[in-house]
Amino acid sequence: MYKEIIRPLLDRLDSETFHNIARESLHLAELTPLTLKLVGLFADGHKRFADKRLRTVLGGVEFENPLIVGAGWDKHGRALMGLWQLGFAGVEVGSVLEYRQPGNPKPRQFMVSPGVAVNWLGFNSPGMDVVAKNLGRYEGAPVRVGISIGMNRDVPHDDSPEAHAVVARRLYGYADYFAINVSSPNTPGLRMLHEKGRKRDIIRAVNETMEGEGGRKPLFVKIAPELGLKEVDDILEVAVEHSITGIIAANTADVPEMKAKYGEKWRGQPGGLSGDDEDYRKMTTEKVAHIYRQAGDELEIIGVGGIKDADTALEKIKAGARALQIVTAIRGEGTAVAGKINRGIVEYMEREGVRSLTDLIGVDAGK
Ligand SMILES: Cc1cc2nc3c(=O)[nH]c(=O)nc-3n(C[C@H](O)[C@H](O)[C@H](O)COP(=O)(O)O)c2cc1C
Repeated sequence: MYKEIIRPLLDRLDSETFHNIARESLHLAELTPLTLKLVGLFADGHKRFADKRLRTVLGGVEFENPLIVGAGWDKHGRALMGLWQLGFAGVEVGSVLEYRQPGNPKPRQFMVSPGVAVNWLGFNSPGMDVVAKNLGRYEGAPVRVGISIGMNRDVPHDDSPEAHAVVARRLYGYADYFAINVSSPNTPGLRMLHEKGRKRDIIRAVNETMEGEGGRKPLFVKIAPELGLKEVDDILEVAVEHSITGIIAANTADVPEMKAKYGEKWRGQPGGLSGDDEDYRKMTTEKVAHIYRQAGDELEIIGVGGIKDADTALEKIKAGARALQIVTAIRGEGTAVAGKINRGIVEYMEREGVRSLTDLIGVDAGK
């Protein structure tokens, strides 16, 4: 019903407007236990699905299933329990910046085809103090919280370590893990932070901050999907050297030919493509497999890029991912997506006689 009736109606709305309505609806539903419960039933038609075989662990933190809402869906931290009720085990909030930033002029988020998005939001964020206030509501809640740390546009690159550290310090008490996002295509110069020396300084500053606050929490670095293998290897070297937990592969793709498939006008438009595009999915899965082959014993991988059903989820797990993130398919496939994927993975495990999700990690990576 979602794809036949609801999605065509929603596709008429401006994409960002739709997104904000969806987030605020979940936020409202959180206000009473009954409406929160109804969210799950209405969205998926089933009781929230849970199964012990789906359990996974990231940096020592247990997740009841591998599905996390990726950064960008809830930048404010307002709908965490609503998303949990839809079947996700966690939400990566953000990217969160030190202070409020409006981002690029609107419109800046588009569905270029059903299930495929292009956006150039440009790191819009309400700022870390607002996010801290919102997250305070979830103390003791079962949802796992990741914090994606970004950096305000006007911060000189030499100050990037402290710009990241200050967010880690402010949100330390709310986070189950942190992610450093230096891979957004939508902030001029940001991807320069992929450079080895700068990345090293940022990681060091965030690690030192966590130690000062009470101890290191799991820390991930998110990479851009179009990086060459040599550049990925440079990042892996820094990551291992600083004992970070792992890599999130990957962010949206700023690849002109990929965008031009949806109309020539998108070719020269700066911005990142995400969602149900075969080339994008393949590009991100190949990055996951490469990282697993190179550093699978030392680094944990969160796979993200074009996941929309149990098959595409299993593709990333078998390439080496220990957990998965989803953003665009919440719109493309609808609110039942997490329940369907979790159920589908368990069905697959039963069919194949697999006892736990972790037995599937990396089996197709060719390690
Ligand atoms: C509208 C939108 C906003 C996003 N904002 C962020 C962000 O702030 N930080 C970040 O690390 N990734 C951001 N992303 C990237 C996603 O987290 C994810 O890496 C990407 O969309 C691929 O996953 P998907 O194919 O499931 O959408 C954003 C993606 C979209 C579509």
